[in-house]
Amino acid sequence: MNISPKPASAQSMPERSMPQETQWSSSIVLIVDDESGILESLAKIFAREGIEVICANNGTEGLEILRRQRVSVLLTDLMMPKTSGMDLLKAARTVSPETEVILMTAHGTVETAVAAMKEGAYDFVTKPLKRAHVVRIVRNALEKQNLVIENRALRAQLEERRQKAVIGTSLAWRRAMDITVQAAASEATVLLLGASGTGKELLARTVHENSSRAQGPLIPINCAAIPESLLEAELFGYEKGAFTGATTSREGRFEAANGGTLFLDEIGEMSRHVQVKLLRVLQEGEIERLGGAGKTRKIDIRLVAATNIDLADAVRKGDFREDLFYRLNVVPIHVPALRDRADDIPLLVQHFVRLYSEKNGKQISGFSREALLAMSRYQWPGNVRELENAVERAVVLSRAAVIGEDDLPPEIRDHEALGTSSRSMTFTIGTPLDEIEMRVIRETLRETRGDKRLAAKLLGIATRTIYRRLESQESNVTAQTQKPDTDLG
Ligand SMILES: Nc1ncnc2c1ncn2[C@@H]1O[C@H](COP(=O)(O)OP(=O)(O)OP(=O)(O)O)[C@@H](O)[C@H]1O
Ligand SMILES: [Mg+2]
Repeated sequence: MNISPKPASAQSMPERSMPQETQWSSSIVLIVDDESGILESLAKIFAREGIEVICANNGTEGLEILRRQRVSVLLTDLMMPKTSGMDLLKAARTVSPETEVILMTAHGTVETAVAAMKEGAYDFVTKPLKRAHVVRIVRNALEKQNLVIENRALRAQLEERRQKAVIGTSLAWRRAMDITVQAAASEATVLLLGASGTGKELLARTVHENSSRAQGPLIPINCAAIPESLLEAELFGYEKGAFTGATTSREGRFEAANGGTLFLDEIGEMSRHVQVKLLRVLQEGEIERLGGAGKTRKIDIRLVAATNIDLADAVRKGDFREDLFYRLNVVPIHVPALRDRADDIPLLVQHFVRLYSEKNGKQISGFSREALLAMSRYQWPGNVRELENAVERAVVLSRAAVIGEDDLPPEIRDHEALGTSSRSMTFTIGTPLDEIEMRVIRETLRETRGDKRLAAKLLGIATRTIYRRLESQESNVTAQTQKPDTDLG
């Protein structure tokens, strides 16, 4: 039997396939008693209190419901044939450990109820039941449940924050952070410029979280990851029948970001066609879904955009609209490459060591001096992301408590051959490219102490190319004896 003032719940629930969290949408009280009179009156009482209940008239059925769906509070009679309240309590502890259990017991069996408390029951009530008393105890149990859930959500949030911590004390990083936090307080469009893996997405989140829209949504969209033909529909949404396959209408990311922040990642990859449409949104503050027949919707969003390409150059080449560039370039933030904030490397290493040790259940305290030195000397073309991956790999593979050089990938270890690797070169504007190329090759070879293989790796070219360039240079020098290259060592 299943008496329920709000039927459906028990029967319509799909078999245990749903992820558990999604079932926490409401607080459900399960009442189990073999006396249908008690079930009926309790169901009525709780219905009047606005509390959703499911009833079962024996322990087996009660257990079945506990298995099928999340129950916040179980209110069960103690004395029942076959599965007793005590059996049900014990089973509930394994099947549904989150459920708070309240036992109902007749006079004279208080001792059993006390034993039940020891088994983990939340409380017990004695029969005959007093309406106000039962309601109060059930309400308290529900409140405890909500606190537990809220607490868990907060803890998860805290953990996420810790994992997404923004690390850096170098001058270059502090400068970028200062502008980020300052810009966050305004409504201005922020344009994050920096190479891949430098932390642009992290800063986009920092902008959102430090803005007055922090409670609103942060909606990211990666313009490079979505095929050009779909990007427009993704951003603007569409009405039913807007194109073949649009069988329902759908809101786009602009609408989803309403009241919050829209993060347009890799904006340099946006086609000219979508650029025009974006510009219109920025000018008019409203969007029209595809197939919207002229119906516009006001939107209130804060825009953060990011790119790893030189947008000004893209404008010069005609790949990016100049007017859109100026609309986006309100507060440009240059996110420094890791090699330009090398002071932060030890801090970042320590942060990721802690993170990945915990994730992998390892007890690793840090990097050896040599390993850290190798990390600091390496150029990090993939920036923080590459460093994060290198640390994760080392943590996973290391057998020792301290990560040594041998745990590092060869490109980082080999790099030790480089002496003062942060040296720079200057050229006069107008220097022929051939000459620049040659000097860079020669200087790199000096750094690698003649190791052509390593030099080629650093320059991202084939070793063979280095040989060829050196050969042609030599023949040039012999041909033009009147203009000797004094740099040639
Ligand atoms: N200052 C930092 N402190 C801690 N972690 C960082 C920092 N900067 C970057 N990271 C981490 O490095 C990784 C790459 O960062 P992020 O995704 O923000 O880079 P990105 O600039 O958006 O890269 P891409 O251009 O490739 O999309 C992320 O896991 C991020 O958490
Ligand atoms: Mg990114």
